[in-house]
Parts: sequence; structure tokens; C-alpha cells
Amino acid sequence: MPRDLAAGMHDLSFATTEFVLPHTVLAEHNGTDIAKYHVGIGQRSMSVAAADEDIVTLGAAAAAPVIARHGADRIRTVVFATESSVDQAKSAGVYVHSLLGLPTATRVVELKQACYAATAGLQFALGLVHRDPAQQVLVIASDISKYEADSPGEATQGAAAVAMLIGSDPALMRVEEPSGLFTADVMDFWRPNYRDAALVDGQESVTAYLQAVAGTWKDYTERGGHPLEEFAAFCYHQPFTKMARKAHRHLLNTCGYDTDEERITRAVGQTTAYNEVVGNSYTASVYLALAALLDQADDLGGRSVGFLSYGSGSVAEFFAGTVVPGYREHLRTGAHREAVDRRRPLDHAAYRALHARSFPADGGDHPTPEQTTGPFRLAALRGHKRVYERR
Ligand code: CAA
Repeated sequence: MPRDLAAGMHDLSFATTEFVLPHTVLAEHNGTDIAKYHVGIGQRSMSVAAADEDIVTLGAAAAAPVIARHGADRIRTVVFATESSVDQAKSAGVYVHSLLGLPTATRVVELKQACYAATAGLQFALGLVHRDPAQQVLVIASDISKYEADSPGEATQGAAAVAMLIGSDPALMRVEEPSGLFTADVMDFWRPNYRDAALVDGQESVTAYLQAVAGTWKDYTERGGHPLEEFAAFCYHQPFTKMARKAHRHLLNTCGYDTDEERITRAVGQTTAYNEVVGNSYTASVYLALAALLDQADDLGGRSVGFLSYGSGSVAEFFAGTVVPGYREHLRTGAHREAVDRRRPLDHAAYRALHARSFPADGGDHPTPEQTTGPFRLAALRGHKRVYERR
């Protein structure tokens, strides 16, 4: 029998960028049939970071409303998950800790394993809460995905951050044991330290993801997890939203069911609304799927939701959560819609200029143009140090 840990997600908030590039603009530029983007991969637009936005400003913007609502008194750990890190040594979470004015008596750490790391952060947080139920853990997942211009991956770029407050007696979702785990050494997607844009073997990455779906499910069921039929919905990592449909089709087939498109729509249809307009937010993606589900679905109180977190390279985890009755009073639906709707559309030339942008590595004083209207900005790179400010 699955075991309810009586701990889980107390709050969930996401933030995204100042700018947005509609796929119609990309399609017009590269001559692609727009149906390939809208139907083939299930993407309509991508969030594009302003020159003065990065994973830190997005992470702080996602977490600030959580701190405003709950305070920081019980938070003793901040876990920052990302695969678009800004420093090889210092955790991006330390900048966020400073921007949010969190207490000095806090441990802060950055985690990395491609798009999977936020789920590792969630599981580590649950362990800490289990050890001391009075404590809460702030888990932030923040990423800006970047591929070479004019490559097949370009249409799957995006950016967002999610902040999750993990604690005992959660208001949104309790997390259960067991988890199903799967690790395989594959080179489907990676980014060497000297590169800005990820490298990817597109078709291999889809195959590796589907193998991880079957692998995690096998481990999950062998450890006594719920049968497929008991789940109300499934939140998948969504590098592009069509991937959620491919993944669930594969899970159904793995469990001996024929492909049934209506059943797939029931399982994942309400999880894609944010990811299809934000694009791939890597570590944040699977939790943006949860935000979309909770913000849109009829009352899910008491129902089980399945999660498949996949990080290329690869590590994956399948786990279940039980939605807490009364959760709807604690959602941030209006703020989430506003985060998506407030973005300013870019034309292709402006998008390309931002895509090509990088800081000189000479240690000089490099102020950034003031572009973001978000609550935090990266003001400069000065003497190799990132300088952030509240707006
Ligand atoms: N109308 C409708 N559909 C169309 C179409 C049209 N005119 N033209 C093409 N399509 C469909 C294709 O049939 C295909 O559908 P199926 O997959 O269902 O067969 C879909 O659009 C995509 O077409 P292609 O495979 O030809 O597209 P592509 O060569 O441009 O590559 C991709 C697609 C591999 C996903 C590429 O965008 C890519 O490399 N993305 C980055 C890697 C990635 O996201 N991998 C996902 C798994 S790895 C992971 O999840 C970790 C992570 O976050 C990166």
C-alpha cells in the first residue's frame, strides 16, 4: 500500500519572463508550417528572458509571494534546482536568500541533474520535514532553456521558475511513498561547461524519456504503488507539451492498454496550459504542469495525481501526491494567469538580439539595459560579480 507521508506542498507559485515570442513569429521566420508547432509539438509561444532577468530574478519573483503569505520563520533550508546555473561555485539560492531577506540561520544549496533536480529537492525537503515537522523547506526550480538558433530544439525554448513551500500538514498536496526510480547513462541532452546552449540528440532524447517512463513505473509498482486506474491525472515533465501525450501513451501501452486518445486527454489535458505558452522551463516544467492542473480542474480534493520527473542524462522518478481537500482556497490562479498574460511580445529581430547576448568575461563594469518590469533585476556584472537589485 502507498504510504501517505503527511508532509508535502503547502504553497506553489510560479513566475516567468518579461517577454514572449509567439511561435507564429518563429514559423514565419524559418518557413515552418505553424501546425508543426501548434499540433506537432504542442507549443504556442515561448517565454524569453529580458537582458536583466536570469534564473535568480525569476526564482526570487516566484518565491516572494510565498514568503509574503507565510513568512520565513519556519524556513531553515532553501534548495535551488537548476540546469542553467550562473556560477560554478556559489548557489543561485544565496542571491535569492539575500533578495528575499531570509534569516541568516538558513542552509542554502543548489542541485543539478538536468530537469530532474527539483524533484530531488522536493524529496530531500520531505526528508528534512520528516526529521523535524516544525521546519519548512523552500524549494525553487528556475531555468532558462536555450538551444542553438535555427536548430530543431529552438522551438522548445522557454523560461520560468517555480517556488514550492514544503512542510508538514500541507495545504495543497501530500506526497506519498513509494517513488519509482530510474537512472541510465545516456547522452540524449547535455551542456558542457564551456557552452551556453544545450546539445541534444532530439530523437534519442524522446526514446530515453520513454524508457525512463517504463523504468520508473516498473520500480513504482514493484514497491507497491497505486494501480494506474486510481490516478485522477498525471503531471509529466513537458519539454514540449506533446511529450506528455507520448509519455502517457507509452505508460498505457506498458500497462497492457491499447492507445486511447480520449483517455490520454483525460489524464494530461489539464496539465499543459502553462507549459504550452511558457516553453521548456526544465526543472520547473513538471510543477508548472501541477499548477495548471490545480488551477483548472474541478475539485481534486482527496484524489491521487501521478508525477513523472525526467532529467536527461538520465535520472527519473515517478511518485504520487494526494490533493488536500480545501486546496482551492490556497491557489494562486489569478497571479499565474497574470504572469503569463503580462509578457510583452517580441519580434524576431529583438528575440534574436536577446538570444545572442552574453556578458563579456573581462571583469569590467557591465550594466544591463533596464528591461524587466518584474520585482527583481540583474543590474550589472561588475568585477566578475553579479549585482542584483529590487525594483
Ligand atoms: N503538422 C502537424 N504535425 C507536424 C507537422 C505539421 N505540418 N510537421 C511535423 N509534425 C509533427 C511530426 O509528425 C512530429 O510528431 P510525432 O513526434 O508525433 O511524430 C512532430 O511534429 C515533431 O516533428 P519532428 O520530429 O520532425 O521535429 P524535429 O525534427 O523538429 O524535432 C524535437 C522535434 C526532437 C522534439 C526537437 O524539437 C528537439 O530536439 N527538442 C529538444 C529536445 C527535447 O525536447 N527532447 C525531449 C525529451 S528530453 C527531455 O525531456 C529533457 C529536456 O527537457 C530537454
